[in-house]
Amino acid sequence: MVKGILVGAVAAALAGAVAAYVFIAAGVLPANADGKPGRLEMWAARKSLRAAIRREAPSGPVTVPLTDENLRAGVRLYAAECVVCHGAADARPSHIAGGLYQKPPQLAQDGVEDDPEGRSYWVVSHGIRLTGMPAFGKSLSETEVWQLALFLKHMDSLPPAVEGAWKSVPSQAPASRL
Ligand code: HEC
Repeated sequence: MVKGILVGAVAAALAGAVAAYVFIAAGVLPANADGKPGRLEMWAARKSLRAAIRREAPSGPVTVPLTDENLRAGVRLYAAECVVCHGAADARPSHIAGGLYQKPPQLAQDGVEDDPEGRSYWVVSHGIRLTGMPAFGKSLSETEVWQLALFLKHMDSLPPAVEGAWKSVPSQAPASRL
């Protein structure tokens, strides 16, 4: 009886593995970047991202102080590293942003001001697997990633001295063809 159940379970696992192989090898698993993500894919990606962030994002106080200087450094870094995907103050997507799968949020419009800085710190350091979101933890210093996180947190409520710098970051959106 137990042996029968075991043989059945192994056979079912093998059949599942073969079906998964055929699904992938036959190209049924979508490989294109111009489709819409399925519900199951969205659910699995969001669920595992949330769990990783909950487990690993720093939750203590931000060690880089909220000063105009640090916010301005965040704007400068954003202009150099992020604007091509996440847009400038006009929130208009570049061709690169429009062609990516998943679509990067245009942060001037769909920003992350409500998220704790530690969450943005984690995302910028580690990136998001199987999306265009790169991991910057090896190319930027810890202070620079915190400066970016501070800027993202305060993007919609910048002090006037920094607001000017943000508004003058050039948009990467294509010129209108009208
Ligand atoms: C090559 C494109 C690309 C670049 C460059 C890029 N990102 Fe992203 N980013 C993405 C994509 C795509 C997503 C959405 C991933 C997803 O759907 O889970 C994302 C997601 C994010 C998120 C999470 C947004 C949310 O709503 O939870 C943050 C924060 C973020 N990026 C910040 C940055 C910062 C800061 C930089 C620059 C240091 C940057 N990104 C550079 C593509 C990019």
